[in-house]
Amino acid sequence: MKDEKQELLMEKIVSLAKRRGFVFQGSEIYGGLAGTWDYGPRGVALKNNIKNLWWRMFVESRDDMYAVDAAILMNEKVWKASGHTGAGFTDPVVICNKCKNRFRGDNVKFKKDDDGKISERVWICEKCGTENDFETKQFNLMFETKVGAEGTIKSYLRPETAQGIFVNFKNIVDSMNPKLPFGIAQIGKAFRNEIAPRDFVFRTREFEQMEIEYFVKEDTWEDHFNEWLGRMYSWMEAIGLQKKDIHELDVPESDRAHYSKKTVDFEFDFPFGRKELYGLAYRTDFDLKNHTEHSGESLTYFDNEAKEHLTPHVIEPTFGVDRTVLAVLTSAYTEDELGGSVSADSGEPKEKRVYLAFKPSIAPVKAAVFPLLKNKPELVAKAREVYTELKKHVPQVMFDDNGNVGKRYRRQDEIGTPVTIVADFQTLDDDTVTMRDRDTGEQERLSINEAISKIKDASMLG
Ligand code: GAP
Repeated sequence: MKDEKQELLMEKIVSLAKRRGFVFQGSEIYGGLAGTWDYGPRGVALKNNIKNLWWRMFVESRDDMYAVDAAILMNEKVWKASGHTGAGFTDPVVICNKCKNRFRGDNVKFKKDDDGKISERVWICEKCGTENDFETKQFNLMFETKVGAEGTIKSYLRPETAQGIFVNFKNIVDSMNPKLPFGIAQIGKAFRNEIAPRDFVFRTREFEQMEIEYFVKEDTWEDHFNEWLGRMYSWMEAIGLQKKDIHELDVPESDRAHYSKKTVDFEFDFPFGRKELYGLAYRTDFDLKNHTEHSGESLTYFDNEAKEHLTPHVIEPTFGVDRTVLAVLTSAYTEDELGGSVSADSGEPKEKRVYLAFKPSIAPVKAAVFPLLKNKPELVAKAREVYTELKKHVPQVMFDDNGNVGKRYRRQDEIGTPVTIVADFQTLDDDTVTMRDRDTGEQERLSINEAISKIKDASMLG
């Protein structure tokens, strides 16, 4: 049974995302295109902050990490070597013979008795109710395309960023002389012709991945695997996900990707159920060995200590950007009623409100600056001055003098702005402002410089 409360929560999140400029339906004015979503100004900022934080944490703060930004279109042979053109990258599709409805084989609905229990193992079409009259097929998820004016060169939109890393292994070794163990990281788009895209940006046909292929000696793979498990938890904590909502799933062999000898999925309690957020896989030497065989290039590493060439094994932590956006949106979404702590002269009404409790490091707007009253030019000018100074230190800030101050607070709450600064009559006298905390509504008075340094410090933290 679907949980109505959770379904409603999902509707509220999708609606807020559209209303406040986070995420829009792809090609909306033409009726949309299933499995595609467009990010608006707040969504772009949120996504960029997530990617930048990830990059800082996993690439820039380490000495053993190398970056690539590989082409999305790759030689067709890449996908033969990786196993993606074969049976390894197919999903079972079930087609209703009557209405031609298509759905994923792992999402089949069974006929139920009056109590809602599965009475017989009879498949039933969700759309037209037809029973047990289906065709099943294996469906390759890659988008095929043609390259060049003649259209004779076949290519694919990459279904994972990982292969752009493997094909550059030799380039990185030759140009950077890395010491094993080391990693290659990439953030970029991936495409899958999903049979049933659903649940907002959870399963889409075009999405972004943040991936690392970490190259290690075979006999050390387990230690590295466990270290990466820990790092993935640190990341989830840094973006504000709560441990209680995260669950490890040791994926059984039958469900693992064709290249993996061990996979742990990090599942997250989304409003529509517990689903995969990220994955950590031990890919062995599957990819480097296969690319060596298919390309004829030796993708080995010369171990100076052992004085021998070896093929490194790979630990792969993988993070979906769009699923991260959805997880932080659902975690941050909060409804409450501000209590009596709000001072009487703040102009803030006591009423129900919605706010996004984003961590400052990922919040799309770090702080907003208001004049207390919009019809007092001296206050507007002072607030502008504060805003201009703040923006020099923290670019993701905004100025708002639209509507009354209470409405401005609500707008900032809904986009998850951690603090709001108000310039009032006292500011004109002593260069102090009030700073209001998004979550508690509490205000403190401090100097403009103190406010700036507080906002700056909080925005940098994980
Ligand atoms: N290189 C390994 C790999 O691609 P995966 O589990 O197929 O593994 C990695 O995908 C991550 O990419 C997932 O954990 C998820 O976060 C994200 N992802 C996969 N398919 C997706 C889709 N259709 N829509 C949005 N995100 C997706």
